[in-house]
Amino acid sequence: MQGRHTRAMERLLPFLLLALGVLLQLCSCSPPPDPVVCTHGKSNCTVTNAYGSFTDRSICHAANITYPRTEQELVAAVAAAACAKRKLKVATKHSHSIPKLSCPGGRHGTIISTARLNRTVHIDAAKRLVTVESGMLLRDLIAAAAAAGLALPNSPYWYGLSIGGLLATGAHGSSLWGKGGAVHEYVVGMRIVTPAPASKGFAMVRELGADHPDLDAAKVSLGVLGVISQVTLALEPMFKRSLTFVKRGDSDLADQVVPWGRLHEFADLTWHPQDGTVMYRQDDRVDVSTPGNGLNGFLIFRASPTRATIDARAAEVSMQLRNVTDVARCAAAQLDVSAQEKQAFGFMNDGVSFTGYPVVGYQHRMQAAGTCIGGPEDGLLTSCIWDPRIDGSFYYNSGFSVALSKAPAFIADVQRLRDLNPDMFCTGVDGRVGLMLRYVKASSAYLGKPEDSIDLDVLFYRSRTYGIPRVYADLVDEIEQMALNKYGGLPHWGKNRDFAFDGAIAKYPKADKFLLVKDRYDPDGLFSSEWSDQVLGIHGSPTIVQKGCAIEGLCVCSDDTHCAPEHGYFCRPERALRGPRWRRLALAR
Ligand SMILES: Cc1cc2nc3c(=O)[nH]c(=O)nc-3n(C[C@H](O)[C@H](O)[C@H](O)COP(=O)(O)OP(=O)(O)OC[C@H]3O[C@@H](n4cnc5c(N)ncnc54)[C@H](O)[C@@H]3O)c2cc1C
Ligand SMILES: *[C@@H]1O[C@H](CO)[C@@H](O)[C@H](O)[C@H]1NC(C)=O
Ligand SMILES: *[C@@H]1O[C@H](CO)[C@@H](O)[C@H](O)[C@H]1NC(C)=O
Ligand SMILES: *[C@@H]1O[C@H](CO)[C@@H](O)[C@H](O)[C@H]1NC(C)=O
Ligand SMILES: *[C@@H]1O[C@H](CO)[C@@H](O)[C@H](O)[C@H]1NC(C)=O
Repeated sequence: MQGRHTRAMERLLPFLLLALGVLLQLCSCSPPPDPVVCTHGKSNCTVTNAYGSFTDRSICHAANITYPRTEQELVAAVAAAACAKRKLKVATKHSHSIPKLSCPGGRHGTIISTARLNRTVHIDAAKRLVTVESGMLLRDLIAAAAAAGLALPNSPYWYGLSIGGLLATGAHGSSLWGKGGAVHEYVVGMRIVTPAPASKGFAMVRELGADHPDLDAAKVSLGVLGVISQVTLALEPMFKRSLTFVKRGDSDLADQVVPWGRLHEFADLTWHPQDGTVMYRQDDRVDVSTPGNGLNGFLIFRASPTRATIDARAAEVSMQLRNVTDVARCAAAQLDVSAQEKQAFGFMNDGVSFTGYPVVGYQHRMQAAGTCIGGPEDGLLTSCIWDPRIDGSFYYNSGFSVALSKAPAFIADVQRLRDLNPDMFCTGVDGRVGLMLRYVKASSAYLGKPEDSIDLDVLFYRSRTYGIPRVYADLVDEIEQMALNKYGGLPHWGKNRDFAFDGAIAKYPKADKFLLVKDRYDPDGLFSSEWSDQVLGIHGSPTIVQKGCAIEGLCVCSDDTHCAPEHGYFCRPERALRGPRWRRLALAR
C-alpha cells in the first residue's frame, strides 16, 4: 500500500509543482545567488554558473574580482591586469553559461564583473537606437526600450541573461523573418575595452560602428576579445503580436519544419515524440490597435516553492535509481504537459490569467519571461527551480543547430529512433518539456550560424554524482551525435556537454578571421582560458577521456570504462541508424 501511494505521489508531483507555481506568480522569490564567491572581501574567489556546476563539475578559482561602475573604471581594471600580464575574464550578474566560459585562465586571474555596468547610456527614439552598458539584463533592456516606444524584435525566452553574455554566446529566440532570431543581428555598434601596448597605457577602448569589419568578430566573441563596455542596438517601433499554440500529429513534421518557420514570424515547435504530437507556435505581428494585453509568464521560469522543487527532484532521483521506465513515467509526463497546455504554458491574456487563444500583447511583454529572478528575498521559501542552494532541479541542457536544408532528414531520423521505443522520450529527455525547435538565420558574425538553421534544445536528467548514468542515457547521446556528425550541426556556445565542442570550430568558415581579430585585440591571450583555447582549437581538446567520461558527456566513448559497465552501460555502436561507424553510445545492455 505504502509503495503504491508513494508512486502515485511521484506521478503527481510535477503537476503540483506547476499548480503551485501559478499561485506564486506574483509573490516574492529568493533571487539567485552570486556566481562568484570570495573568502576575503574581493580576493580568493571561486566562479561557477547559475546551476552551481560546470559541465565537468569543476569550480574555477580566481585571485580577485572587481566591479567597475563606469567605462573609465573598466579601462583601469583591464590596464592593471594587462600591465602585469594577468589573466582576465568577464563574469555577469548570474552567469548562466553551462560550459566554463566565465572562468579566467589558471587559478590566479582577475574577474571583471559587469553586474554594476547596467545603465542605459542613450536612447535615440527617432533613429530607434538604444545604447546600454553590457551588464544590463535582457529584462531591463526590454523595459527601457519599451519606455521609449521601442521593441527588440527577437530575444532569448529567458530574460535573466545579460546583454554582454547573451551576445558572447550567440543567444537567440526564434525567427527566420527580417534579421532573424539572434540578438547579435540587431547590434549596430559596440565599445570594447582591450589590452594595449604600454605606450597606450595598457588598455584602450575600441569603438566599432555599424560598418566596422571587426564588429563581425565582437558580436559573438565567447568573451575572448576583451570586455564589451557598451552595445548599441537598432530596434523597431513597439508592436503587438498574436500567439496561438496549435497541437498536431508529428507524422508530417519533416515536411512542415521548414515551411512553418517561413509562415509565421515568431514560429517555434515543441515536439513530444513519445506521443507523436507537436505544439506549433503560431505567432505573428498584428496591428497595435488589436485588443489584448497579454503577458508571458512561462511556468518554468516562475518562482516555485522550494519544498515542492526538492520533492520533485527527490522523486525523479528515486525513479532514476530504480530505472523506472514503465508507462507510468509517460503518463506522469503526459499529465504535466496537459496541465501546462491548459495554462498556455504560462501566457496570460490580460496579464493575470489565460482565458483562450489567441493571446495578443505588446512585444516587450510577450518576448521573454523570468519572474523567478525578481526577488525580494524570501529566505529561500521560493526560488528558480535550478537554484543551486537547494537540492532542486539539476539537468543538462543541450542546444545545437542543424542547417534548414538538412532539417527534414534529421527529423525523420529522430522519428525512426522514436519508432524503436517511444517511451524512451518520457525518460531519456525531460518528457515534460519535450524537444524545442527554434529558427535562427545565417549570420555575418564570424562565430554566428553560417546557414539558416533549426536549433534543437533539450533538457535531461543529470545526477549529482559523477558517473551515475541516466535512464536511457544513450537516447540524447544518439540524437546529439547524429546532429553534430551526420548533419554537421553546431553546438550553442553557452550550452551543451564538453564532447559537443570537439571539432565544432572547424565548421565555422570564418573562424580564421575571428582568430586574427583575437590576435590583434588580445595578443597575449589574457582574456583566454584553457577552455576557450580548447573550444577555439588553439590548444588542447575540449573532451576529457577518463573513466565514466561518456556518461558525463565529457567524451564520446571508445571503451566500456568510459561508460558505466557496473550499471549495465557499455560502449556500443549506435543502435538504430546507419551512419558513420565511429559514433558510439553509452548503451544499456
Ligand atoms: C534558464 C535559461 C534559459 C536560457 N534561454 C536561452 C534562450 O532562450 N536562447 C538562447 O540562445 N540561450 C538561452 N540560454 C543560454 C544563454 O543564452 C547563455 O548561457 C548566455 O551566454 C548566458 O548569458 P549570461 O549573461 O548569463 O552570460 P555568462 O554566462 O556570464 O557569460 C557568457 C560569456 O560571455 C562573456 N561575457 C559576458 N559579458 C561580457 C562582456 N561585457 N564583454 C565580454 N565578454 C562578456 C563571459 O566572459 C562568458 O565567456 C538560457 C540559459 C538559461 C540558464
Ligand atoms: C581561499 O578559498 C578557499 C576556498 O575556495 C579556502 O579553502 C582557502 O582557505 C582560502 N585561502 C585563504 C588564504 O583564505
Ligand atoms: C588582484 O590581485 C593581483 C595579484 O594578487 C593584484 O596585483 C591586483 O591589484 C588585484 N586586483 C584587484 C582589482 O584587486
Ligand atoms: C542595476 O543594478 C542594480 C544593482 O543590482 C539595481 O539596483 C538597479 O536597479 C539596476 N539598474 C538597472 C537600470 O537595471
Ligand atoms: C532499464 O529498463 C529498461 C526497460 O525496462 C531496460 O531495457 C534497461 O536495460 C534497463 N536498464 C538498466 C541499466 O537496468
